[in-house]
Amino acid sequence: MKERIDYLVNILNDANYNYHVLDNPIITDQEFDKYLKELNTLEEKFPELVREDSPTKRTGGEVLDGFTKITHSIPMLSLSNVFNESEIINFDEKIKKENIFPNYVCELKIDGLSVSLRYKDGILLSAATRGNGLVGEDITNNAKTIKTIPLVLREKIDIEVRGEIFMSKETLDKINKEREKENKPLLQNARNAAAGSIRQLDSKVVANRNLDCFIYHLPNPEDYGINSHSEALAFMEKLGFKVNSSYNKFVTDSRGIIDYINEVSTFRETLPYDIDGVVIKVNSILEQKQLGYTSKYPKWATAYKFPAKEVLTKLVDIIFTVGRTGQITPNAVLEPVLVMGSTISRATLHNEDYVMSKDLKIGDIVSIRKAGDVIPEVVEAKIERRTGKEINFKMIDSCPICGSKISKKDGQVDYYCFNEFCPARKIESLCHFVSRAAMNIDGLGEKIIEDFYNLGYIKTFTDIYNLGRYKEELTSLEGYGDKSVNKLLEAIELSKNNSLERLIFAFGIPNIGEKTAKVLAERFDDLDNLVKAKVDDLVIISDIGSIIANSLVDYFSKEENIKIIEELKSLSLNTKYLGKKKSINLNIADRTFVVTGTIEKYTRDEIEELIESLGGKASSSVSKKTYAVIAGENAGSKLDKANELGVKVLTIEEFEELIK
Ligand code: IVH
Repeated sequence: MKERIDYLVNILNDANYNYHVLDNPIITDQEFDKYLKELNTLEEKFPELVREDSPTKRTGGEVLDGFTKITHSIPMLSLSNVFNESEIINFDEKIKKENIFPNYVCELKIDGLSVSLRYKDGILLSAATRGNGLVGEDITNNAKTIKTIPLVLREKIDIEVRGEIFMSKETLDKINKEREKENKPLLQNARNAAAGSIRQLDSKVVANRNLDCFIYHLPNPEDYGINSHSEALAFMEKLGFKVNSSYNKFVTDSRGIIDYINEVSTFRETLPYDIDGVVIKVNSILEQKQLGYTSKYPKWATAYKFPAKEVLTKLVDIIFTVGRTGQITPNAVLEPVLVMGSTISRATLHNEDYVMSKDLKIGDIVSIRKAGDVIPEVVEAKIERRTGKEINFKMIDSCPICGSKISKKDGQVDYYCFNEFCPARKIESLCHFVSRAAMNIDGLGEKIIEDFYNLGYIKTFTDIYNLGRYKEELTSLEGYGDKSVNKLLEAIELSKNNSLERLIFAFGIPNIGEKTAKVLAERFDDLDNLVKAKVDDLVIISDIGSIIANSLVDYFSKEENIKIIEELKSLSLNTKYLGKKKSINLNIADRTFVVTGTIEKYTRDEIEELIESLGGKASSSVSKKTYAVIAGENAGSKLDKANELGVKVLTIEEFEELIK
């Protein structure tokens, strides 16, 4: 019986591959259905013989309660964006400045959602979404329903590949026609449809959505002796993946990239799937390594995004909001319109100068643009559509919330409400304090903060931690039961244990973002040390310039801020850094090192970790900014580059001496 099952699985998988990946059917639909039915029957009778790669697994069936998380073995990075010719020229120039003159591979940028697939011994082990880049969601069951994702590879190897799950235009049309008949809301575009489908907990639903998948990235090419992206694509294609290389083109400069974009624009609409741009990648893996990564993107690739489609609507009004720093922002109130799949009714107009430069009048017909995940933008007023009834824009002179006079800071374009007690400023700053990236207090959303502020329960950061005093009153409020109040108080209590960087960020000090807060927490370890820091102590830290330093010193020089800090401490809020400690070594701190060649005593990762744990930076490419290259046996191009640029070269022994 096993032989028959093996025979059926093999022929069905082969037919599947030929039909869906190669577009070359080898058996008729009737034959396929007949074999599948036979396999189903046999598997029901002999469940112990069901193979991992059985095509019956593609029809879905399992319904999940939720998705579990998968930590990516290598972070799933996104791509930097370029939008016009000068940004493309810039991308190319930056690479050539590093003395790298690459072959670029230009590819179509598929508009779907990225997926990471892992195989063990050639069998599909897991499929994960990108998530936050470090941790994604386990969508293995759903991915198995996608016929172009091989359940088994043509070689028994361990491998991880990345690609894009998408829905064809034809499938979207078909599904929407059916939904229209059933009076169900239509899926707004292929990208949202694919993303929405893959997050279904019932894999049967996913199976009916007919999703597809192109593979375009091999994160570990060296493991397979592969030296270029184009080789990686050919390798993955040979393994059975669907790779979209027929439109790929090699070019060597920005002119070539621009020509490719123009060419793709001529046939974009005729493709059977949506693309939202093109991707440009350095082909050589060695050159990719030399160029390296920023914290978010590879420096060896970028995505050109097609200009977003513009839509017309009416500018109904311009209203003003007050941010947590007191900044006053004019906002466009628009007649709601659908732009690239989402309904837009508001758009920021930034400041008075912006509105004036666009000559916007209330009542104008304006064009709106939204590029991918970029926030919507009012492009221009359609002057020719004016009727004469439009109303001129006038900047306000007092705060829309507290009525205080507003004014500009020296040399800046924005107006501010300087009333420290302005409720709008307070509410915004409280919302920021509890937000996810700051103190992360679950259950204290914007609406609740606003209610509690108006009811007088929360006026300052400290009040949040004294909320327990009003427990009984709160439980009697409409919409707040015992359970929800308890949960909220627990979340507040829990946030007391946060590491220092969250608290620094939560204060909402101008110019202090999440990343800077982390740098400060690591460096100063305890809030008391940071409070005492002078501008001179701060500017010597890399990533901290004089604007940030002055902003911090200014914040901690205010008596009311120090009072709040003391109160928070007396409420037992943690004010220490709880992350991995660096024991700063002054010979290393803030200096960049590149490790190259073979070093017997350590692996490269170990040395890099050591450098970072001592406050230094490890980089994979040599530039003028490199402090020293640590070179082992058989060091190659990086050593040459160091010599060429006059960068110091150290043996491992010399490095050990340095950190002694
Ligand atoms: S390469 C490290 N190639 O676009 C390189 N991405 O805006 C990883 N995308 O996150 C990406 N088509 O989801 C690459 N041919 C292609 C692509 C592509 C679509 C998506 C992908 C990525 C996003 C970046």
